[in-house]
Amino acid sequence: MKQVAGISFMQQVKTIRDIDLSDKHILIRVDFNVPMDDDCDISDDTRIREALPTINYCIDNEPKSIVLVSHLGRPKGVQPEFSLKHIIKRLERLLETSVLFADSIEAVKDLQESAPKGSIILLENIRFYKEEEKNAPELSKKLASLCDVFVNDAFGTSHRAHASTYGVASFVQHKVAGLLLKKEIDSFAKALANPLKPVLLIVGGSKVSSKLELLSNILDVVDKIIIGGAMSNTFLASLGFDMAKSLVEVELIDEARNILQKAAQKGVKIYLPVDVVSTDDIATHANIKITPAQDVPSGYMAVDMGPATTKLFSEVIQSSQTIIWNGPLGIYEISQFSRGTFNLAHAIADTYAFSLIGGGDTADAIERAGERDNMSFISTGGGASLELLEGKILPAFEVLDKK
Ligand code: 3PG
Repeated sequence: MKQVAGISFMQQVKTIRDIDLSDKHILIRVDFNVPMDDDCDISDDTRIREALPTINYCIDNEPKSIVLVSHLGRPKGVQPEFSLKHIIKRLERLLETSVLFADSIEAVKDLQESAPKGSIILLENIRFYKEEEKNAPELSKKLASLCDVFVNDAFGTSHRAHASTYGVASFVQHKVAGLLLKKEIDSFAKALANPLKPVLLIVGGSKVSSKLELLSNILDVVDKIIIGGAMSNTFLASLGFDMAKSLVEVELIDEARNILQKAAQKGVKIYLPVDVVSTDDIATHANIKITPAQDVPSGYMAVDMGPATTKLFSEVIQSSQTIIWNGPLGIYEISQFSRGTFNLAHAIADTYAFSLIGGGDTADAIERAGERDNMSFISTGGGASLELLEGKILPAFEVLDKK
């Protein structure tokens, strides 16, 4: 079980609680990659809020300075709409203190010399430096020159081996995890390394291709898997069902069949939709039909699970002690096709199981279902949480000091 070995390795990282931070220059890699609307207003500030405990802990330890480094989006060079200036007001409001802005690493250095002790400095989007994603040593060294202690608290970016998440650590004497990084890895440990059984994985989303590694690698860890969302169409097609106009990854039908066989050999029970909601036009959704999964009408596409499936999946949820959910189970953004996803969110909320949610869309669906506060843990990582479930050791953890 590579998940167990990997997670116990990652749990050994030192954290900010293990070292002396007073009178130090501290660089914290945070993940302020928050969703924004067309006016560059933040639509969900969860990631900023989740970074506050680490920043406040550092403030309380009276450092010389705190430098916050993050990316925002995937800019091609310097693009003003991706500037971290857009988040500074929200950050100041949440921290209840002022934050200085530096548009370059050199500007951070100047502020470290001129600003009062304990100043908090936010560096401009680190992806404006083309060396960041290449993990170029020149940039890593420059970042390292800003600090005595490197803190990684960017769980959402911990699967990226970039200069500010990975390379920088080689050039700093003390490199430790922040409180969010630790909280995330401990929550995944609870679900994967030492779970209360039975363990249920609910997996959805549009593409089997993006979840293949997950499905192949998690069979030793879980007892049951619910497969929903458009990716279940490929599995239903592998059983010989005609899925009409539904999204099916034809080239992965054999692979889907292999996964079903492998699961059966390992005694992992897989649940697929038994009935589906389908439409002949997603945009207008004027015509909607509910049929058994093997009878999708010609010209229609499956877009949500049907009521019998919701009942079946809810029963599976009720008999689970640990529930891991990654990927929505229908086109939840359209209210007519959101019922399956929302009802499963309610079903999970009604259990006493430990529920761990990964992926931005799944978190968004749970928020819209009004169940955010009723989940045990919602990860701030999308890609990062998926790679953890796949059993990978995340690069950001690899380079931190161990206990
Ligand atoms: C995320 O939102 O998943 C992280 O911030 C990483 O962003 P990236 O996929 O652009 O590297």
